[in-house]
Amino acid sequence: MSIKKISEIREDFKKSEIDFSNISDHPIKMFNDWFEMALESDKDNAISFVLSTVSSENIPSSRVVLLRGIDENGFTFFTNYESAKSKDIEVNNMVSANFFWEKLEKQVRITGKAIKISSADSDKYFSSRPRYSQLGAWSSDQSSIIDVYYKLMSKMDEFKEIFKGKEVERPLHWGGYCIVPEKVEFWQGRPSRLHDRLLFTKQKTIWKKERLAP
Ligand SMILES: Cc1cc2nc3c(=O)[nH]c(=O)nc-3n(C[C@H](O)[C@H](O)[C@H](O)COP(=O)(O)O)c2cc1C
Repeated sequence: MSIKKISEIREDFKKSEIDFSNISDHPIKMFNDWFEMALESDKDNAISFVLSTVSSENIPSSRVVLLRGIDENGFTFFTNYESAKSKDIEVNNMVSANFFWEKLEKQVRITGKAIKISSADSDKYFSSRPRYSQLGAWSSDQSSIIDVYYKLMSKMDEFKEIFKGKEVERPLHWGGYCIVPEKVEFWQGRPSRLHDRLLFTKQKTIWKKERLAP
């Protein structure tokens, strides 16, 4: 598609607004309210978010992962602890999460520390996964370079044999991280690019709330 055609794509946002006179004192409470709406409007895509990390060479990297839990501490996702993202987190655990709920014209940007969740919590989630996903976690050294002819399915078959008739235990290289938020920005698309933006910043025990220009 030509640059001209792309530049002709226009979108005006008009579905909702942030009522600044009536906002929650806690960003996780507000996130939960918006998340409920996102699930209702587009269940399949509500849980995906873009996770950005920064490497030891200061190179940022982003990828999509799935939200698997929210509690008062933060936002949990699961991954391979030896993957590129986990190596980044080992040297710099400040990460950024970006949720874009297109149907609601809403965006949430989170900055915070990614902390490994307990083995017990990772075990609990791992045991709830379908068996093929459990075997998949064993079968792939996520982010490692593999031969172009490498047979991922045969690797999976090896693990099928190993765990035949047994529960698949969680590999120690696989588990969850909780992103403990320090800043959370809520963005609501508005007409004429005059979007609503609300920033929560953690200050010791309370959250400071500020409105940002669009
Ligand atoms: C819709 C979608 C959901 C994904 N969910 C996850 C996930 O929950 N955990 C994960 O490790 N990778 C997930 N991935 C794959 C990642 O985007 C990425 O390819 C992988 O984690 C390796 O990233 P890294 O090499 O930067 O560590 C998902 C990809 C997509 C497109």
